Amino acid sequence: MRRLLVAGNWKMNASVTSTEQLLTGVLGQLGSECDVAVFPPFPYLAQAVQTLAGSGVSVGAQNVAAEEAGAFTGEVSAAMLADVGCQMAIVGHSERRTLYGESDELVLAKTRQLLAHGLVAVVCVGETLDERKAGREEAVVAAQMALLIRDLAVADWDRIVLAYEPVWAIGTGETATPEQAQAIHAFIRAQLQQVGADVAEKTRILYGGSVKAANAAELFAQPDIDGGLVGGASLDATEFTGICRA
Ligand code: 13P
Repeated sequence: MRRLLVAGNWKMNASVTSTEQLLTGVLGQLGSECDVAVFPPFPYLAQAVQTLAGSGVSVGAQNVAAEEAGAFTGEVSAAMLADVGCQMAIVGHSERRTLYGESDELVLAKTRQLLAHGLVAVVCVGETLDERKAGREEAVVAAQMALLIRDLAVADWDRIVLAYEPVWAIGTGETATPEQAQAIHAFIRAQLQQVGADVAEKTRILYGGSVKAANAAELFAQPDIDGGLVGGASLDATEFTGICRA
């Protein structure tokens, strides 16, 4: 049985004060319904780790370097994330793929860095509106998963979470219907059969794209949706914990 995970991707939104307020608010309203993780911007990771110590809520980064260490100005390594107490990082978010040109090769390299340092990689996949209109969503997602499926070892999948985020549903208020989301989640799980039946059964696949407390329950009720990667709604403690309760 897969345990649901609700992950809050704060994107480029935070301050010392808002981080404290948001996390205190979340802790005050959170039950133990599911696994919970937050992904603040880099400067607030250590603060989040400290504030959430002992709470069971995990802290992750929104990105990581593809290299181990050295002369890579502006980059943050997986070793550094582990050192400050992070347990996870997001890789391959569509905003990184489209705005910063991240390729599937780079996503694989970043994933390998996270795995090498004992961190969980939350790997994002998803199609654009044009790709969906052309009926290419399965082909796009399969291509984004192909290198991971080919190059990672079976044991690596213990520390991989996939997140399906249709680009047209991110920050737009437009959510995939539960049926649309379930269909592609089932497709993603079927792709994982190439790694093995056990991996396909155990790997968590999160849905992301305008998830709110009001629509989370019907999304999470789908058999192949194992939680959510939440953007905007993760910046509000009541809304975010509402999603966790769903
Ligand atoms: P929204 O929940 O704001 O649509 O963002 C989704 C997302 O990109 C999470 O990574």
